[in-house]
Amino acid sequence: MNSDKQVTFQLLLAVGTAVIGSLQFGYNTGVINAPQKIIEGFYNETYIGRYSQNISDAVLTTLWSISVAIFSVGGIIGSFSVGLFVNRLGRKNSMLIANILAFIAAAFMGFSKLAASWEMLIIGRFIIGLYSGLSTGFVPMYVGEIAPTDLRGALGTLHQLGVVVGILIAQIFGIDSIMGNATLWPFLLSFTFIPAVVQCVLLPFCPESPRYLLINQNEEGKAQDVLRKLRGTDDVNTDMQEMREESRQMMREKKVTIPELFRSPLYRQPLLIAVMLQLSQQLSGINAVFYYSTAIFEKAGVSQPVYATIGAGVVNTAFTVVSLFIVERAGRRSLHLVGLMGMAVSAVLMTVAMALLDKLKWMSYVSIVAIFAFVAFFEIGPGPIPWFIVAELFSQGPRPSAFAVAGFSNWSANFVVGMCFQYVANVCGPYVFIIFTVLLLGFFIFTYFKVPETKGRTFDEISAAFRQSSGGDKYAADDFNTMGADSQF
Ligand code: GLC
Repeated sequence: MNSDKQVTFQLLLAVGTAVIGSLQFGYNTGVINAPQKIIEGFYNETYIGRYSQNISDAVLTTLWSISVAIFSVGGIIGSFSVGLFVNRLGRKNSMLIANILAFIAAAFMGFSKLAASWEMLIIGRFIIGLYSGLSTGFVPMYVGEIAPTDLRGALGTLHQLGVVVGILIAQIFGIDSIMGNATLWPFLLSFTFIPAVVQCVLLPFCPESPRYLLINQNEEGKAQDVLRKLRGTDDVNTDMQEMREESRQMMREKKVTIPELFRSPLYRQPLLIAVMLQLSQQLSGINAVFYYSTAIFEKAGVSQPVYATIGAGVVNTAFTVVSLFIVERAGRRSLHLVGLMGMAVSAVLMTVAMALLDKLKWMSYVSIVAIFAFVAFFEIGPGPIPWFIVAELFSQGPRPSAFAVAGFSNWSANFVVGMCFQYVANVCGPYVFIIFTVLLLGFFIFTYFKVPETKGRTFDEISAAFRQSSGGDKYAADDFNTMGADSQF
């Protein structure tokens, strides 16, 4: 086993630069929440300019829903296209080139007001969605591939930390005295070009993934050089050995296309686990909170809903940091289980608080506590783990296709929740979070029986354990653990 825990400057630079892509994803997830009314005002003015009458409520709601949800449509397409780039251009250049999308998107959104065109804003949201979808594949893949085994979970969690910091920045900048006002909102949206510039400047100083160099490009010397810099030591034999072993396996697997991924019994279990974990992340209801928290807090009788939303962003960030520090000790599986169960309990508490609000005014405080707890438990496990575990569950050959399928599942579920939540909430009233409770308990049961612990194992050990257990329906998380241990340790 690899016991090298050295965090070198090169490693930090590479991971730090990559997760700027995650920050972009988070920023654009959160940016549209606070200035909703202001931008709707712009849609109305534009409408009057074109048709000399006020926009109707129905048209405005539709235009706004499209402006919000088109981001996830871009995400679905972007995440599904990850495989087209990473093997042809390499991981690093893929990240670099994707920034073109961020610049174009910033221009469309930034000039939409000047051009009196909501179409430009919507196109911009779609393009930044494409970029974000690509990032949710590129970043966890790159980070997973350059991280030492013992730090893969902690560094993998930095992707999620980038996302949550991005959301928080967007929430703060969106306050009306900062940029969430009628004059400055175009800047708020186009600020996404700043992280893009920073990433373009820093990426050339980052190394290509050594796994890509060795396994895909057969560049043994270059891979070794990069590893030496990343690990800060000349002795990189253990890593090289493990990658060569994976490379040997890959001679058999080569590049695995998406249809092959579905057909081969070898990948059935890891694929099911990867997809279910992505669904558990989105169908937990987290984005019901992040897209609509202000409205939820309003309904819960909170007097300053915008600040409660920012509070949720702070809790969100704080608990991602907690997860970062405990994931290598507690493991992925246990944290995911704790997170799902904690969210389910918080959702029940939230429902009780909302239901009793009419009778007991102080229930609005209980609802704030419940929502904060919901978010905190999310970041303990279901937030960070699904993103980085995909890299762990698959070896180099099927990894890009696995990221495409996992990302597609995540973004599609994100889209469904974003589109449907308000309608369902109107029908179910205070009981809407019971739906998420049921789903959360279902995912808890699945995780308990099917998700293996991947902590501290090399990629090769993990795929070897899956190969052994690909006997089909006999598979259970426990078998994996014993099999992995028997065969590898
Ligand atoms: C995860 C989810 C994203 C969500 C965020 C909240 O990254 O993928 O959809 O908005 O967490 O912190």
